[in-house]
Amino acid sequence: MGALLVFSSLTVASHVGPYAVEFMDRPFVGLGERDIVNSHCIVDARVARLYRDELVGLLGNAKSTLEIEATETAKNLLSFTHYIEHLVESKVRRGDRLVAVGGGIIQDITCFLAATLLRGLDWYFYPTTLLAQADSCIGSKSSINVGKYKNLLGTYTPPRRVFISPTVLKTLDVHDRRSGIGEMLKVHIIDGPASFQKIAADYDRLFSDDDCLATYIRRSLEIKKGIVEEDEFDRGLRNIMNYGHSFGHAIEAATDFRVPHGIAVTMGMDLANFLSFRTGGIPSMVYSSMHAILKKNYHGFEATPIPIEEFFDALGKDKKNVGSRLRLILPDELAKVRAVELEATPEFRDLCIIFLRSMRAAT
Ligand SMILES: NC(=O)c1ccc[n+]([C@@H]2O[C@H](COP(=O)([O-])OP(=O)(O)OC[C@H]3O[C@@H](n4cnc5c(N)ncnc54)[C@H](O)[C@@H]3O)[C@@H](O)[C@H]2O)c1
Repeated sequence: MGALLVFSSLTVASHVGPYAVEFMDRPFVGLGERDIVNSHCIVDARVARLYRDELVGLLGNAKSTLEIEATETAKNLLSFTHYIEHLVESKVRRGDRLVAVGGGIIQDITCFLAATLLRGLDWYFYPTTLLAQADSCIGSKSSINVGKYKNLLGTYTPPRRVFISPTVLKTLDVHDRRSGIGEMLKVHIIDGPASFQKIAADYDRLFSDDDCLATYIRRSLEIKKGIVEEDEFDRGLRNIMNYGHSFGHAIEAATDFRVPHGIAVTMGMDLANFLSFRTGGIPSMVYSSMHAILKKNYHGFEATPIPIEEFFDALGKDKKNVGSRLRLILPDELAKVRAVELEATPEFRDLCIIFLRSMRAAT
């Protein structure tokens, strides 16, 4: 990447006070010496290998470092004994901080530890994936897998500070970039048709123009900030951020996580739109224009087999369901997304099956 656009910081209000998201032109800087010496760094092992030199200042002076391979198993409850033993053996104290360096998986692990270990520690975040920079780094949530159930345990524990340097995105695999773009498309669709059309028109530039990407990272966070500041605890307005997620989580679970999170969410948004379109919701033209971009974003994963019964089983166990009813976020006739509750009737199942089969057939 060349000289990159750097933005002024963004302040996000939370139930424990405001925190700043700072945009940096170099990676892994921003924390003062006093913070670093009292820090336990929890680092994505791949990032540690790729950025050994850039991480010297942080990891070389921290109280301890724990490297973790970023897999869904790593954020399973069963893996936590090892992390806790490491921190206790590293003499973690109540005044110490945790520092997450990585994507959403490292964030979820660190945030959950910060919420629970010694009844609460402060944590800082250096997000290194597009998904984490453009979406998950704000909003306070930690989400941990239990057994085969995704994101079942969780807390609302905002970081104290977030440092974003898009320079580290140059080493991301293309499917991880598209995974992040999936969440960026989501917030732009939620923001309304004009926002979606803008990012859809710039879709190809998100892969080739660093300033364009940085601008959309910032814009995505601004949109999300407006929502999480109004409803941090997901009791009303914030539910719409789950657009594409019930289906996306079911796809992730049914495919044993072979489809990356944001790609599965992209498929989930396309399925939500399809259901809306086929039941008198969004008009055909709007459906088609969104379908074109969403399909482009999940391209390459359409052929992943999605076992139907596993898909419905996971959908039925979604934590947002109410009694026997599924709680889904679907676009209405004006393409405005809203929560609906419905039974998984045979008609509903048939439409899901038609969509999943047609997605596979299109490869
Ligand atoms: N807590 C939340 O608010 C929240 C929100 C959205 C998603 N999530 C969770 O986040 C997880 C997905 O996170 P993610 O998409 O950020 O990816 P990730 O953490 O799963 O990482 C994806 C891959 O990218 C690699 N990687 C990370 N940074 C890199 C870099 N700079 N260069 C090269 N490789 C790099 C990792 O090693 C890994 O192989 C899911 O478990 C999802 O449920 C949490």
